Amino acid sequence: MQNKSKANPLVVILGTGGTIAGAGDDVGYVAGQVGVPQLVAAVPALKPRALEAEQIAQVDSKDMSHAIWQVLARRVAHHLARPEVAGIVITHGTDTLEETAYFLHRVLAPAKPVVLTAAMRPVTSLQSDGPQNLLDAVTLAAWAGARGVLSVLNGRVHGPVEVRKALPFALDAFSSGEAGPVALIQEGQVRGLRPWPAGDALGLEALATDPAAWPRVGILVSHAGVDGVVVDALVAAGARGLVVEGTGNGTVHAALLEALARAQAVGLPVWRSTRCTGAAVVGAPEGALTSAGDLSPAKARIELMLRLLTSAA
Ligand code: SIN
Repeated sequence: MQNKSKANPLVVILGTGGTIAGAGDDVGYVAGQVGVPQLVAAVPALKPRALEAEQIAQVDSKDMSHAIWQVLARRVAHHLARPEVAGIVITHGTDTLEETAYFLHRVLAPAKPVVLTAAMRPVTSLQSDGPQNLLDAVTLAAWAGARGVLSVLNGRVHGPVEVRKALPFALDAFSSGEAGPVALIQEGQVRGLRPWPAGDALGLEALATDPAAWPRVGILVSHAGVDGVVVDALVAAGARGLVVEGTGNGTVHAALLEALARAQAVGLPVWRSTRCTGAAVVGAPEGALTSAGDLSPAKARIELMLRLLTSAA
């Protein structure tokens, strides 16, 4: 797979599993079966490209773990530090792709492109979208000027804060909500729409401890008829922080709010986000709770966990 030159920049592909590496029919397939070299071999247009492949994991991404994230972040950082590497592609499952993207963004905030891609159909399906997504991801990872953690699916390039799986089965499953995509990939050309993502990296040192000991941050949902039982159980289980998925603009049922106040009283940070998809909570309707701003509940959990890990909650 090696063929390096300035006109053919080196891209490293890290495999983690998912439907893009799945086998079977459209619904009854098993994710995470096919290795990265086979995924690359299924895309004839990648044959002349300078590529390296490394298998980090082979999981259905619903089972993504902090331990895999720790290994992945270290391998991404390792390859990014190699001057000859232009960018990195990570093949992933669609179900938690947005979480891995946000995690890598906060830990590494890379100056080179780190591009996650996935598929809604296995390679054995008539509707297989993985090969085109992989080709687009390699194009973007090698694109001069591209930077940051990006996700590319169905010709759209999403930023790590906004990207979200919005539909469970449709091929066009991913959205950046009101913000819209960062760029488009059309016929092998990248068309930028917004600035590339940037930010302050927490650094790999933030991940130095055993992932089994990373702070537990629980997510709970505000809904009709809710009470404080789950909050009290999470506090009793040693949670170090909570994210509440509020209704509408991040509002919270009075019964849940009471339990959350008890958690705050024993020192837990409590953040509020919204069940609504596609946009941030605005203002501070539940004054005592910290707003998660642009972050979905799943990403707010990651942010709060990383802040607790670096003691900046
Ligand atoms: C997964 O997330 O690993 C399975 C579902 C998918 O990739 O579409």
